[in-house]
Amino acid sequence: MENERGSWGSNIGFLLAAIGSAVGLGNIWGFPYKMGKSGGFTFLIVYLLLAAFVGFTIMMGELALGRKTGTGPIGAYHAVSKRFKWIGWLAVFSPFIIMSFYSVLGGYCIEYMSLNLSNLAFQNPAISGGDLFHSMLTNPLGSVVYTILFLIICYLINRGGISGGIEKFNNVGMPALFVMLVIIIIKSLSLPGSIEGLKFMFVPGYAVSGGFIEAAPNISTVLATAGGQMFFSLSLAMGAMITYGSYLDKKENLVKNSAIIVIADTTIAIMAGIAVIPAAVAYGIQQGIPVGEIALGGPSLLFVTLQNVFNSMGGVGALFGVIFYMLVLIAAITSAISLIEVISTFFLDHAAQKGRKASRPKVVLLVCLAILAEASLVAVDGLGSNGVWVPGQAAFGISGWNDCWLDFMDMLSEGIAMPLGAMLMSIMIGWEIRPKSMLDEIHSGAGSGMDSFFSVCMKLIAPLGMVLILSGQISDFFGKGARIAGYIIGIVIYVIGVAVAVTSPMRKAAHK
Ligand code: PHE
Repeated sequence: MENERGSWGSNIGFLLAAIGSAVGLGNIWGFPYKMGKSGGFTFLIVYLLLAAFVGFTIMMGELALGRKTGTGPIGAYHAVSKRFKWIGWLAVFSPFIIMSFYSVLGGYCIEYMSLNLSNLAFQNPAISGGDLFHSMLTNPLGSVVYTILFLIICYLINRGGISGGIEKFNNVGMPALFVMLVIIIIKSLSLPGSIEGLKFMFVPGYAVSGGFIEAAPNISTVLATAGGQMFFSLSLAMGAMITYGSYLDKKENLVKNSAIIVIADTTIAIMAGIAVIPAAVAYGIQQGIPVGEIALGGPSLLFVTLQNVFNSMGGVGALFGVIFYMLVLIAAITSAISLIEVISTFFLDHAAQKGRKASRPKVVLLVCLAILAEASLVAVDGLGSNGVWVPGQAAFGISGWNDCWLDFMDMLSEGIAMPLGAMLMSIMIGWEIRPKSMLDEIHSGAGSGMDSFFSVCMKLIAPLGMVLILSGQISDFFGKGARIAGYIIGIVIYVIGVAVAVTSPMRKAAHK
């Protein structure tokens, strides 16, 4: 029953692609750093609880929504909901905005991989990570060119379709990523002093007592940080899992698949931490840099600290550099293609609905060109190095996005659209169309012990978790004082959302 949209060739192909979407820059530079800074082992437990209760449920909900309706997010919300039809637009807006910086960062990875490759081939003298990064950021044209290269790779994959492009790439890319990760872990742990990095990640409170940060964050910050990280890392609330689910065969088990994706993503995040943090800390200590000043997260971890680590290894360093930046590049590509697919699927489904047949290569090309336009802004801005004007900053004197387009785009997508979209989606499933309608799709009508768990999570735990995450994001971007306002805004949205949902005609229909 092959339709024009295409479908996954096999369940394992789907799983690798979904894990590929989940495993991205968020795992490598977000998770380990946030874990260390926010309490080590304590953070891990909080993260696991949130992943089990909120992430896993939303993952099942998204996959079921996609598979049930057989369309991307916009069509999916239209098909099932009366009151929340428009959430689908949020779930296409976010991927588009995220791609504005994701493709620039992907371009940086290509640049660093090539640099290390040429160092390896020609035994060039190593340039310090800081100088390299600075010269890259202040070269707008070069950044745009590498962004274009990254988008060309994605274009070539996405134009091949679900099984002929995305699945094929992930089938090779994900196992390769895993092998490279293991190589880097072994090397990293063999460096003298690396144990300090492990302690930073895993020992509760060590970040403070070891001098990495000044004060421990409070529990609401930990919850919000872990929650936001989990959502981004699992590719939730961005339409990605709805889209990938819409190409999935009816006979596949959604409970098991969701569990595998969540566990794999979390495992790789921890492994990525063990690969990068000990190496970065070992290098810092060896150089006599006070531990509090070693960059352990964000772009500086990847493009300054780790390049210095590779430089310090002598001749073989460039080889590890090539392997490492290729690993990060693959992680970025497998996430980016899922984001591009959300947008492309929308146009393809839209045309099909109108009885027209759009050409996939053409649609993907146009999507990539639109992304290039916004990404050029981020690339030229060079993390704020080139004095490009950023909206809001001067007018409101708000400091959360640091005069930088990347942070501004991150605020729009990860900061606002994502938690809002996830909260409204769980309200819609929990209170409007009712959990049962999704549970029928999840286990094809057969009841299971999961049902009440799923219902409680969708009705209460997930949306209230999102209130917490939303307020955390608001205070991150708009300053600490905004936290209380964030709670109030979140609760008000929840209450209004539930009221809107329970008065929907869809709810009566579901009730029968
Ligand atoms: N999960 C990806 C990461 O960790 C980012 C992403 C978010 C990808 C949403 C697709 C959809 O980097």
